[in-house]
Amino acid sequence: MRAPSIEWRLRCWFARRPTLGGDRWVEEPACSVNIAAPQVWRAVDGECLPPLQGPACPGALPGNARSFARRTESSHRHEHAPHAGSDQLLTASVSSHRSSVSPSSSDKEDCLLIVVVGGTGFIGSRVVAKLGEDGHEAVAASLSTGVNTMTGEGLADVLAGAAVVIDVSNVQGLQDAEMLEYFETSTRNVLAAAAPGVRHYVALSVVGCDRLPDSGYLRAKVAQADLIENSAVPYSLVYATEAFEFIPGIADSVTEGGAVRIAPVRFQPLAIDDLVQVIARTAVGSPLNGRVEVAGPEQYRMDEFFRTALAARDDSREVITDKHARFFGTELSEQSLVPVGEAILGEVTYREWLAAH
Ligand SMILES: NC(=O)c1ccc[n+]([C@@H]2O[C@H](COP(=O)([O-])OP(=O)(O)OC[C@H]3O[C@@H](n4cnc5c(N)ncnc54)[C@H](OP(=O)(O)O)[C@@H]3O)[C@@H](O)[C@H]2O)c1
Repeated sequence: MRAPSIEWRLRCWFARRPTLGGDRWVEEPACSVNIAAPQVWRAVDGECLPPLQGPACPGALPGNARSFARRTESSHRHEHAPHAGSDQLLTASVSSHRSSVSPSSSDKEDCLLIVVVGGTGFIGSRVVAKLGEDGHEAVAASLSTGVNTMTGEGLADVLAGAAVVIDVSNVQGLQDAEMLEYFETSTRNVLAAAAPGVRHYVALSVVGCDRLPDSGYLRAKVAQADLIENSAVPYSLVYATEAFEFIPGIADSVTEGGAVRIAPVRFQPLAIDDLVQVIARTAVGSPLNGRVEVAGPEQYRMDEFFRTALAARDDSREVITDKHARFFGTELSEQSLVPVGEAILGEVTYREWLAAH
């Protein structure tokens, strides 16, 4: 039996479309895969078949990754998941459309060595685990594994032999100028180390960042993307909306005098697992040399969403609707935080996510 190509896998995955005005996906009859499925389905002679059991990569372990030689203690200190359930209904609508992305590629080996810069972080650790489950050899590269993107320490070593680099590194609490310096210096260093052998550079950014120039953090993310787009390394940029898991942290960051101030703008958050699926699948496909946007399956008013989300956690803070409320340090307009064109939509609704947490 002929082994399915990466192209076919991605075609399977993208062969889905949203219902008109509905909030669920329907599946194309010939070839469809649930985004939430834990493994990649196979396309064999034009048909989608369930995943083969066991990792394709001899060195890969399900749910795990090869340790970088200089790795110290893995950091799993980023725990943001709320725990309460909710019966409250949220006003929801779907506005995004299926992505036009249909990467083309020739057959590739099933097992790729993939370095995840920021692979010990909240998103990165999940990406590493997902790639391991999919049969790839994923290596976390971060400060706690002996790699410093600011100084370049350890980068050349960890990238030796890597086919793909995924950059999900991040820093918090810096002033605007320092933030810009962090993302520019880090990205330049990773690109320089990747240039000799890496075939695909994937980085994660934020939906709407290029429409919000008053935010120092988002300006830095735009600068990061500019460097990648103008480099010689083939790349894909994944732009994501906010994750459900980050809602409590966001609420904390915009609390003033015990109340949470939120603008009444469109908001389309997603489950972190859906985002991780998109990052992992983008990474094993051909470089897009462009961007793909990913958002949740439902759209809300941001202030209403936060009211419901805080209530679901028995958080008694008042949510004040304030059209001047800041987010990422900037005021927002109606469309600032949602995809305005085609986007990949996650599968998990907020109601489903709450029920599972
Ligand atoms: N969360 C969202 O909703 C969302 C949405 C869109 C985009 N994003 C993007 O997702 C990315 C990751 O966010 P996150 O919340 O997962 O970040 P995070 O949990 O704070 O993790 C940051 C990672 O970066 C590493 N790191 C920091 N400085 C480094 C350095 N100088 N050298 C090497 N590694 C370094 C950290 O290493 P150590 O752990 O070893 O210190 C850690 O692995 C960010 O770029 C963010 O813009 C997030």
